[in-house]
Amino acid sequence: MKGVVLAGGLGSRLFPLTKITNKHLLPVYDKPMIYYPIQTLINAGIEDIMIVTGGNFAGHFLQLLGNGKDFGLKDLNYTYQEGEGGIADALRLVEHFADDEPVCVVLGDNIIENSIRGAADDYRKQGGGAKILVKKVHDPQRFGVPEIDEDKVLNIVEKPAEPKSDYAVIGIYFFDNTVFDIIRTLKPSARGELEITDVNNHYIDRGEMTWAELDGWWTDAGTFESLRHASNLVAQTGANKK
Ligand code: DAU
Repeated sequence: MKGVVLAGGLGSRLFPLTKITNKHLLPVYDKPMIYYPIQTLINAGIEDIMIVTGGNFAGHFLQLLGNGKDFGLKDLNYTYQEGEGGIADALRLVEHFADDEPVCVVLGDNIIENSIRGAADDYRKQGGGAKILVKKVHDPQRFGVPEIDEDKVLNIVEKPAEPKSDYAVIGIYFFDNTVFDIIRTLKPSARGELEITDVNNHYIDRGEMTWAELDGWWTDAGTFESLRHASNLVAQTGANKK
């Protein structure tokens, strides 16, 4: 299984911090934000990693991460997303890198307390389809929200005004190689993006989606409030524990 960190987009919700560098290079307590999703993949046993970046400061990633030596990696792969066409648009760019293998996709602003190794192993055994991780939140309107019936996800709605559950679909996804065919069928949403939620709903419609509840805390870090919260969580308990 290959690993993907999506770190494109313009980070406009964090302006003016993102006027001089990419959002994913901003500090979360004692490390640049992107260190956390990279470590998430490594802790899950995934060391063949591509970073999708974008915007005006893509060169900063090379300066910071180089070939991934600080993480004990043999090398790191990079690609560049033109514009801000959405998470699924960014994922589209890794088709060649994936080379028929499944992918574990981590959003560059998602930080977790514990390891996802168990979920990764379960997905490996699943032998195809997709898997999402969910977490209970107090503000589901900010996220993709699943409607869950016992062991099945019935559907996911992106940023619903009236959420059907108090779970968020977190930004860590497992997909088989058909994800790239699905992305080719997508149309931009009302916010002009190719939505990862539409990708997930395709798998649900095909009956090929599993889910698990994430153990430990999870947060995004893409707003001032969540960035501060992320720094506090990391300072208090540490992140990416094994
Ligand atoms: O954090 C989890 C949530 O992430 C999910 O619950 C939602 O279903 C999902 O749509 C996403 O919601 P956001 O609206 O918060 O995503 P955002 O636009 O902040 O993008 C998250 C990351 O995805 C960002 O840090 C980098 C990457 N990205 C995003 C866009 C729009 C790209 O690489 N390219 C893009 O064009």
